[in-house]
Amino acid sequence: MRGKLILIEGLDRSGKSTQAALLNQRIANSHLIKFPERSTPIGQIINKYLTDSSYDLSDQSAHLLFSANRWELAKDIISKLNNGEFVILDRYIYSGIAYSLAKSKVSNSSNEMNDYNWLYSPDKGLPKPDITLFLTLDLQELSNRKGWGEERYELKEFQIQVKSCFEKILPPNVNIINVNNLSIEQVEAEISIIVTNDLTNDDIHYFT
Ligand code: TYD
Ligand code: MG
Repeated sequence: MRGKLILIEGLDRSGKSTQAALLNQRIANSHLIKFPERSTPIGQIINKYLTDSSYDLSDQSAHLLFSANRWELAKDIISKLNNGEFVILDRYIYSGIAYSLAKSKVSNSSNEMNDYNWLYSPDKGLPKPDITLFLTLDLQELSNRKGWGEERYELKEFQIQVKSCFEKILPPNVNIINVNNLSIEQVEAEISIIVTNDLTNDDIHYFT
């Protein structure tokens, strides 16, 4: 039996990385992959872009680098799944599209960055998650969360755009969890129910 590909998407500060790590601990034989994966050659460029505000890239090239970073790991993900291992993803293509669309909204640009098909096409062919979860927050709660401002994109106003862009582009089968007023344990329990209820076995799917 192949392993499952489980994606946890979410807004910055939604607790997505905590939940991805908890799920990874709970499933025997699973691997956690966080995107951007900052240690690869392309990941190192992305890390510089995110942490150094004086290091500028065009929006299009930043977008393509985030996708290329997923392609750096695609083979590894597929071979793990075929070996019966589970792979938990912390962010993936929906973050890629939502953050880029949000950029075009705040800069009022009408170019490729506004074009869903252009944004989506570099990710075509990547393995598609069997289960997609999205951790969301109400706008008020989003503004209250601590720790904004350390990296590029971590501005309240921008995060409001990101939330609305995610809502436009998430797939129809996404499991949305609103984490306002929920403890870490409560979110963990909800995720656990969703993941254990979905144990169909079929071939790996791909984005087409
Ligand atoms: P994040 O998950 O916040 O990393 P960390 O927890 O290490 O801070 O990801 C960093 C930022 O990258 C985040 O603001 C979302 C953004 N991002 C994109 O713009 N495009 C993408 O394809 C991905 C995966 C992330
Ligand atoms: Mg972050």
